[in-house]
Amino acid sequence: MCGIVGYVGKRSAKDFLVEGLKRLEYRGYDSAGIAVMQEVKGTQKIYTVRAVGKVINLENKLSEHMSGCIGIAHTRWATHGKPSEKNAHPHIDCKGTVAVVHNGIIENYLELREMLVKKGHTFRSETDTEVIAHLIEEEMSASDKTENIFEEAFVRTLKQLRGAYGIVALSVHDPEMVLVARKSSPLVLGIGNGEMFIASDVSAMIGDVKRIVYLDDGEIALVRKESYTVKTLANRMKEKEELVLEWDKSVAEKGGFAHFMQKEIFDQSRSFADALRGRLILEDGMARLGGLRTVEKRLRSINRIIIVSCGTSYHSALVGEYMLEEYAGIQTEVEMASEFRYRKPLLDKKTVVIAISQSGETADTLAAIREAKEKGALTLGIVNVVGSTIARETDAGIYCHAGPEISVASTKAFTSQLAILALLTLYVGRQRGLSLVMGKRIAKELLAIPKHIETVLKQTEAIKKLAKKYGRQPHYMYLGRKYNFPNALEGALKIKEIGYVPAQGYPTGEMKHGPIALIDSSVVSLMIIPKDSVYEKNMSGMEEILARGGKIIAIATVGDTAIQKRTKDVIFIPKTIEMLTPLLAVIPLQLFAYFVAVERGYDIDKPRNLAKSVTVE
Ligand code: G6P
Repeated sequence: MCGIVGYVGKRSAKDFLVEGLKRLEYRGYDSAGIAVMQEVKGTQKIYTVRAVGKVINLENKLSEHMSGCIGIAHTRWATHGKPSEKNAHPHIDCKGTVAVVHNGIIENYLELREMLVKKGHTFRSETDTEVIAHLIEEEMSASDKTENIFEEAFVRTLKQLRGAYGIVALSVHDPEMVLVARKSSPLVLGIGNGEMFIASDVSAMIGDVKRIVYLDDGEIALVRKESYTVKTLANRMKEKEELVLEWDKSVAEKGGFAHFMQKEIFDQSRSFADALRGRLILEDGMARLGGLRTVEKRLRSINRIIIVSCGTSYHSALVGEYMLEEYAGIQTEVEMASEFRYRKPLLDKKTVVIAISQSGETADTLAAIREAKEKGALTLGIVNVVGSTIARETDAGIYCHAGPEISVASTKAFTSQLAILALLTLYVGRQRGLSLVMGKRIAKELLAIPKHIETVLKQTEAIKKLAKKYGRQPHYMYLGRKYNFPNALEGALKIKEIGYVPAQGYPTGEMKHGPIALIDSSVVSLMIIPKDSVYEKNMSGMEEILARGGKIIAIATVGDTAIQKRTKDVIFIPKTIEMLTPLLAVIPLQLFAYFVAVERGYDIDKPRNLAKSVTVE
């Protein structure tokens, strides 16, 4: 979490830094700060401004006179030390010669701090980050050299740090250069024309650059306005691949919508179609997945799939489990990445471990993949952000092509991940006995989904009315069975994330084992109840809730008149095959959470305490 940006170039650094921070605000909004190198009467000085809360508070404090062309900035999601101005980044050393922004956690910061205090350093914050600035200062003053002292002190500092970091630093000792280091916390360089950009997430530089370079763990970059060099900590030069950044500026703007979340919900017909584009072979009932070509042979010999992921990506994985077992006939397990990495998972060469991640940077998911690789399993990534760490570290993978997802609460990434899981089901299934007829049926239904999504979106006004009617309830229950049980979890997660309302997602059949005790007239249950193989069972669950005075909002298949006799509050979804119903049923759940949060007046795109990309454990 936390957003980092840096700029070395010919314009006023502050303009890009503020703009970049705004685009990264979803990564943290406890405080923000900026440091710019500026010449005053022939001497280079570092000017720092920091503010509690959102980037706008920082922007309001910035003076026009801050015009230096080299700078770094940070938006914080607090880990060590409460959100306050003194804990906001950038942190500087005692003499004001070094400024540092950092994402991650320095695990040995207490011992380093103690050592530095003994040597006479004065600390001004409670953060782990501040030790980095003082360490660099200490190493620079201990150096007897006159050249490269900043770079060498930086490297010596990094060697003393334990934990995770993405660090960007500048110093008056080499005022035209910014130093960057990465260990477990993403950082990307953007190559402009006579200017260089640095960010923890490419979305900060969309529209400013076309060429980008991702840093890998253990690498440092020396960035000047015309050039950059990447080295290892052992001073070995690295050749880096430059990637093309396809996204243009419009994808990072709200485009007439009130919030990014709303824009992203409405983008799902397009994003779903893009996930399928060029990948479905209708006449063969098959999927063409170019990203898996290098592991095609090995995939034929696997007998078990484990999917690891977090949050919303965990919920799409659960839907994938049903798809893969039912149609591809392969044993599939899903595990939260944060649990998987601390178990002793039994893996072998016949197991494939798939990481699902929108950002491709989630620390727990990444650690799970590393663990799986270590144990000899084949690893695949289902990732949205091209070139992200999980995409690079897995053996092969499939990109979601959803476009940037800015809102913290994930929506279009979920439906794109389901598109990929359905394609994977076809791909693996057709190798293992899924019939041509069934393959073709699934492919045909998949192609119809974008239109169906549009049909569901046309009911936005009806969903908004439901949110007005029920938006102040103290508690929500989300229920579904089989393919729509994960959707119940996802619906509950959405309303917790942005509406701050207690909500539980449960399999309908499990209600009678406990949660039904909660039901009375104050509880609204959102029941996902399409016409599928568990429809009757679901209906019995509904009766049990109604019998206890509970209120029900149903998400049902168009034409289901029986439901309308039981509750007036129904949102209909078009008919499709059972395995694809979650794609349509999730949309009313996303919209309901959205409108409830609007009703309650919350900050939709930046919910409290959450971050989009969780790069710490
Ligand atoms: C955070 C986000 C969630 C997201 C989860 C997994 O918790 O707030 O929206 O689902 O991380 O992120 P990933 O990028 O790995 O899909």
